[in-house]
Amino acid sequence: MARPKIALIGAGQIGGTLAHLAAIKELGDVILFDIADGTPQGKALDIAESGPSEKFDAALKGTTSYEDIAGADVCIVTAGVPRKPGMSRDDLLGINLKVMKSVGEGIAANAPDAFVICITNPLDAMVWALREFSGLPHQKVVGMAGVLDSARFRHFLSLEFDVSMRDVSAFVLGGHGDTMVPLTRYSTVAGIPLPDLVKMGWTSQEKLDEIVQRTRDGGAEIVGLLKTGSAYYAPATSAIEMAEAYLKDQRRLLPCAAWCDGEFGLDGMYVGVPTIIGANGIEKVVDIKLEKDEQAMFDKSVEAVRGLVSACKGIDDSLA
Ligand code: APR
Repeated sequence: MARPKIALIGAGQIGGTLAHLAAIKELGDVILFDIADGTPQGKALDIAESGPSEKFDAALKGTTSYEDIAGADVCIVTAGVPRKPGMSRDDLLGINLKVMKSVGEGIAANAPDAFVICITNPLDAMVWALREFSGLPHQKVVGMAGVLDSARFRHFLSLEFDVSMRDVSAFVLGGHGDTMVPLTRYSTVAGIPLPDLVKMGWTSQEKLDEIVQRTRDGGAEIVGLLKTGSAYYAPATSAIEMAEAYLKDQRRLLPCAAWCDGEFGLDGMYVGVPTIIGANGIEKVVDIKLEKDEQAMFDKSVEAVRGLVSACKGIDDSLA
């Protein structure tokens, strides 16, 4: 059987890391696409040359031609510009919206059956725009944010509790921005919910609040340290987890920016919610019941995403 084909649209920091991970995990053959001629070809060759040591069987090709992504099973989109210190994800909207138009059209023309994972920021608005420009089914176009935000939350919690990250599970909902909603009630250490761990004296409410805030600011913390760009290792790993769930029909329950039409009381928008990813893409949005304060935080986050979507409509008439 032929190997799956994974097209990476954008061969920058995240794109290159995605290519390396996809090859090492032997998820399929990799096409790296970018508009900067030389970059995708150079990265593809460099990664292919790591194959003898890593011992993977995967073909890698770099290209500036959309025709090379023909028939891709998965497309992961990182094309666009990342943040610099002092910028919010929302500051990228105007530039990256134009990029989503060309990428959406390129995917529609060449890989209309692909499962498309968008990483480009501001995430919730860009995944919406990418879906609009591509015209692909909603359940095949998703945004990667929740897996990363919850990974950051899990990492900070494992440091606080001094336990393995494997035993920490965490839940983050809402938009991928300052209003994201880390849900402590649904986050656990080996099944023990965080509020119980506070009662058990493993941490204090103040410390937990600090960790929640650090999670919300997780991307900015890395931007501040790197100074020249934004995070790429953990974002790439998170998207690979989603791609693997699709390619292997794992039916993983993962938080993603997914299309909600009825779920969570929403009438057609992309926002971070728990989903099941399997062979059909988003198999299900898991519509959990929120408590009053959680609902208020979620509503605020939804409003922030709506604001970005209407800004996109203001920039590009075809989206209105
Ligand atoms: N089509 C294809 N590729 C493009 C286009 C386009 N229209 N415009 C820009 N690119 C390419 C750039 O040439 C660059 O190689 O996208 C790549 C982006 O790579 P980086 O600048 O290294 O950015 P990266 O860190 O990978 O982040 C990409 O993901 O997390 C988000 O906020 C982040 O929006 C940013 C995106």
